[in-house]
Amino acid sequence: MTTPVPPVVLEHLAERTEVVDVSAQPRDAWPAVLADAQGLLVNSQVKVDGTLIAAAPALRIVASASVGVDNVDAKALAARGILLSNSRGSLIEAVADLSFGLIIMAMRRLAYGMYWVRSGRWMTEGDAPYGRDLAGATLGIIGLGDIGSALVRRAHASAMRVIYTNRTPRTDDERIGATYRPFDALLAEADCVIALVPLTPQTRGLFDDAAFAKMRPDAVLVNAARGPIVDTAALLRALDQKRIAGAVLDVTDPEPLPPDHPLLARNDVLVVPHVGSATIETRTRMAMLAAENVLAALEGKPLLTAVALPS
Ligand code: DGY
Repeated sequence: MTTPVPPVVLEHLAERTEVVDVSAQPRDAWPAVLADAQGLLVNSQVKVDGTLIAAAPALRIVASASVGVDNVDAKALAARGILLSNSRGSLIEAVADLSFGLIIMAMRRLAYGMYWVRSGRWMTEGDAPYGRDLAGATLGIIGLGDIGSALVRRAHASAMRVIYTNRTPRTDDERIGATYRPFDALLAEADCVIALVPLTPQTRGLFDDAAFAKMRPDAVLVNAARGPIVDTAALLRALDQKRIAGAVLDVTDPEPLPPDHPLLARNDVLVVPHVGSATIETRTRMAMLAAENVLAALEGKPLLTAVALPS
């Protein structure tokens, strides 16, 4: 284990296999332990690259306690026939809750409200931090999967209209209550755009200068997916030139942001530290699912949530 897990998960694993926790050790101490490891339990903060994989000749599975597995070199695993699992399904409601919270923060300009109070002012004075109504506003979701569907329910509760874009349009728009738009059309229409897509070569830098130029100047961006989906320099330019009205980010590029990063000095940006799934219950479920996948692989059983590897 390169990542600490709740005691209940550790006990469960330790009943059925030998567990070595290297989470408190520096990364360069891991290879000595990995020489014998058959399973590796990580989270999305741990880069599982070719070097790490090469240090583990007996490895049979990498289980990531995360839904995104952009941290793992899938090709290197495939070349060795090593299995990969994620924790999809265990964090849907938590990430949908956080996403909706960020949407409210963005629409109601709460970054600006905090700055207003910190600078000793109150609602009655001057350029008050008015936000926008959610009711009647259009939410644009980039990447409508399970988390997006759970988010649509929350958006409907606040009477938002929902549009979405996916690589392939869904066939159940009516049931879900969201309408497909091509990417550019969504950017031009939405009051609030939220990124929920996985990080892939196609989505890296998706929000660049050209994308920001297509957004409405009164629209806000929320990123609850992966930092590199947004080109940070382009975001700063879009904010400076008032091509968009603000941003609320659960993920950033780089991550973490250095304390003197220009994004943190702005009153139209609010950043939280990649906490989409960070509740006690959800993180326990995610770790338990990763543990179950490790045990399944070691015991020769099918994985619960296998990730397909490149052939
Ligand atoms: C995930 O599961 O991918 C979340 O971003 C937490 O890492």
